[in-house]
Amino acid sequence: SRFVIGVDLGGTKIYTALADREGNLLAEVKVPTEAGAGTRHVIDRIIQTVAQVQREAGADGPAVALGIGAPGPLNVSTGVVYQAPNLGWHDVPLKSLLEERLQVPVAVENDANLAALGEYMCGAGRGAKDMVYITVSTGVGGGLILNGRLYHGTGYGAGEIGHITIDPRGPRCNCGNYGCLEAVASGTAMAREARRLVEGGGGKAILEAAGGEREAITAGAVARAAAAGDREAGEIIAGAGRMLGIGVAGIINLLNPDTVVLGGGAMQAGPLLWEAMEREIDRRALKKSREQVRLVPAALGSRSGLLGAVVLARQQAGWLKTT
Ligand code: BGC
Ligand code: NA
Ligand code: ZN
Repeated sequence: SRFVIGVDLGGTKIYTALADREGNLLAEVKVPTEAGAGTRHVIDRIIQTVAQVQREAGADGPAVALGIGAPGPLNVSTGVVYQAPNLGWHDVPLKSLLEERLQVPVAVENDANLAALGEYMCGAGRGAKDMVYITVSTGVGGGLILNGRLYHGTGYGAGEIGHITIDPRGPRCNCGNYGCLEAVASGTAMAREARRLVEGGGGKAILEAAGGEREAITAGAVARAAAAGDREAGEIIAGAGRMLGIGVAGIINLLNPDTVVLGGGAMQAGPLLWEAMEREIDRRALKKSREQVRLVPAALGSRSGLLGAVVLARQQAGWLKTT
């Protein structure tokens, strides 16, 4: 059988799928990244998930190609990940590491760029011309489809929305800078705010939603507390939403896109996030550009990046023309 593999490598999870020529997913598996255990360990885990989906799909022989998204700026032609803030990676030759082990042609791309591609080809961005995709997850990432094509910039560094400074006096970001959008609006940032609240004696409902353990507090726990009506949790989420809105308004003013798609696990934090974001966008985006843009949630849920990786693998296999 002729098949490809798509991998969405994130700061928290590795999500791998096997797909046929048409892009139908025949097997999927999701495991924790465990980035703290080092690069080698992460590579081993990716290889394990590839073996697992092949087993599950009953695949005979190797894949025709593998497409993988990594959470940082990277060189698409050499396959070297320059920097992955949430994996602690610097200059990791992801493409050659995987090709050596798997003996399969590997194509790499930034995770948010792939999610943008996934949404543009099969999700909320279908029919768009100028589309911006933003993911709010462990980090905050972006992908730009301009005039129907993925925009990379001079050295593949375009779209790094998460590292735009939003608050010059803000908290330290995993990239080393201070006050990046990612440091104030990611899932990690919401969890950090909640832990700080608990340290100061507040955040009772959030702590409870996390099973009573401060270190176990995630953005998910904050979201659950907010959904149950907790005011403190709601404030954390609305605060992140405001920061996100400031960032998105800037992007709208810069690019005048027809569509902005918002995805990533932390976008599930509930309606407060979206409402706070939209209020800032209404306030700060220039009137004409605001009227011309459609703000939409990702249609592929947690699969935007995975489906983008499958698209990339099919392109690598020569089954799909490149965008
Ligand atoms: C990285 C981006 C990535 C995003 C989401 C950011 O920290 O710089 O490249 O897309 O996290 O994973
Ligand atoms: Na990107
Ligand atoms: Zn940063």
